[in-house]
Amino acid sequence: MKGIILAGGTGTRLLPLTAVTSKQLLPVYDRPMVFYPLNTLISAGIRDILLVVSPANSGDYLNLLGSMFRKYDVRISFVVQKRPAGLPEAFILGEDFLDGGPVTLVLGDNIFEDDFSLAIQSFQSGGRIFAKEVVDPERFGVVEFDADGKVLSLEEKPAHPKSRFAIPGAYIFDGNVSEIAKHLTPSERGELEIVDIHKQYFTEGVLDVRTITGAWFDTGTHEALLAASVYAKEHRLAEKFHPIINEAIQEFNAEFKKSVSLSK
Ligand code: TTP
Repeated sequence: MKGIILAGGTGTRLLPLTAVTSKQLLPVYDRPMVFYPLNTLISAGIRDILLVVSPANSGDYLNLLGSMFRKYDVRISFVVQKRPAGLPEAFILGEDFLDGGPVTLVLGDNIFEDDFSLAIQSFQSGGRIFAKEVVDPERFGVVEFDADGKVLSLEEKPAHPKSRFAIPGAYIFDGNVSEIAKHLTPSERGELEIVDIHKQYFTEGVLDVRTITGAWFDTGTHEALLAASVYAKEHRLAEKFHPIINEAIQEFNAEFKKSVSLSK
């Protein structure tokens, strides 16, 4: 299983914060946001991770993460997405990286408290999405499912949702996903849509769902970004990060301080 993190996009809802840097490099309490999806993947045992970044911010990602994990058994690769053409483009840009194998995609602005190890390690084929019970399902993609986790219906921001379960930004797909993505057509807003990939697996009867119960933040708005920071501080999320990440950050900080004092 390989991992992809989508860290491109425009982040228009967070302007002016995102005018000079990438949304996923903004702080969530004590660390750049991108460490949260990295932690989701690394904690689940994934060691090969592709970051999709925008041209304007690619240098910042390289500076931060380019060699941070070199001492650990974690390989970070980068691919530049020229313009935000939609989430499924990750599977097209990542086709060679995936080499026909399964993938877990995490959106770079989604923060999860849950551990995805079981869901990822038990995955065999088809597609697997997640479901989080929310009070306002009409704001999200909504999934209805049976007791075995078989998907019964998928709806996009429905006025009258069939369930209270929103679909958060983490998805597992088998090796067919790049081929499926290549055959999608853009929606009315001119983007490839992840829901069209879900629909394809659903139509084939091979889409299942796992519920998550921990906190989930989509940090695309100022309110959600602040709420995520407050939650991370109050629930000491940093202490629960995989040790590889916390050690790598400490080493990075020490090296950075050393290089600053040498240059004085
Ligand atoms: P969105 O939040 O839907 O889009 P955005 O980040 O551009 O923000 P806004 O709507 O405020 O302009 O994207 C979800 C995540 O996926 C986010 O981490 C950015 C990333 N993304 C890409 O990397 N490439 C893309 O083509 C798109 C559409 C999103």
